[in-house]
Amino acid sequence: MFTEQGPTVRELAVQALSSIERGYDLLAPKFDRTPYRTPERVLDAVTRAVGELGPFSTGLDVCCGTGAGVGVLRRLCRERAVGVDFSAGMLAEARAAFPPGGEGPAVHWVRADARSLPFAPAFDVALSFGAFGHFLPAERFGLFAEVFGSLRPGGQFVFPIGAPPPVGSRAYWSLFGFDAAMRVRNVLWRPQFVMYYRTFRLGDVLEDLTQAGFVVRLQPLTELGARPDGSPRARLVVATRE
Ligand SMILES: C[S@@+](CC[C@H](N)C(=O)[O-])C[C@H]1O[C@@H](n2cnc3c(N)ncnc32)[C@H](O)[C@@H]1O
Repeated sequence: MFTEQGPTVRELAVQALSSIERGYDLLAPKFDRTPYRTPERVLDAVTRAVGELGPFSTGLDVCCGTGAGVGVLRRLCRERAVGVDFSAGMLAEARAAFPPGGEGPAVHWVRADARSLPFAPAFDVALSFGAFGHFLPAERFGLFAEVFGSLRPGGQFVFPIGAPPPVGSRAYWSLFGFDAAMRVRNVLWRPQFVMYYRTFRLGDVLEDLTQAGFVVRLQPLTELGARPDGSPRARLVVATRE
C-alpha cells in the first residue's frame, strides 16, 4: 500500500499528532503516493455514473486535496471546476498537478473550511471523495447544508459510499481497531485529529442529507464489484437540490 517514495513511519506519526489541517499540510508532497488518495478505478467508475446525470457547466470538489475529484469534474463540466480544501499544502500540490491553460473547463482552487463554504448557490454538481471521516457525526448535517447552499436548484451532490465490511471479517476488525486507536489518541492528545472510518453509516447519512433539504437516491456502482451476497460493494449517493 505505501511505496518507498511515500511518507516514512516517522512522518506519518508526526502528521497523526497534528491537527487535520496541519497534518495534511505536512503530508501533501507525498500524499499522491499514499493509499489515502482516491484510486483511479473509483474515480473512473464515478465519472461514468455521474456522466449520465449531466450535462454540467460548473462543478465543485469538496475537500479536494490534491485534486482527485477535480480531475473527475474536468471530464464532466464544460465551464468551471472548483476544488475547495482547508489545507494550503494540499492546494499547492493540486495547483501544480493542474497547471492553467490547456483544454477543458477553467480550474480554480479555494482555501476554505467545508463547514463554512464561501459560495453562492451556483454549482450544477458537487462531489466529494475520501474526506467524510474527518467530520464528526454532529457536524455532518451542517456540512451537507453548506453543500446544499452551494448548488443551484436542480444541482446534484454525488459521492461514492462503500458497503461496510461483514461483522467479524478482517477488514471489520482493522477499521474497528483504527477508530478505537484514534479515539484514544483524541482523548490523550491535542489538537484532535478527527478521522473515523465507522461513523459514516448509510442510514444516518441519508437522514442528514434529507434534513439538509436534498432528495436522495442510490445507484449501485457495479463496476466496483459485489459482495458474496450479491449486493454492490459501493453505491453512488445522488442527492438533488430540487
Ligand atoms: C483523505 S484526503 C482526500 C483528498 C481527495 N478528496 C482524494 O480523494 O484524494 C482528505 C482531505 O480533506 C480535507 N479536509 C478535511 N477536513 C476539512 C474541512 N473541514 N474543510 C476543508 N477541507 C477539509 C483535508 O485537508 C484533505 O485534503
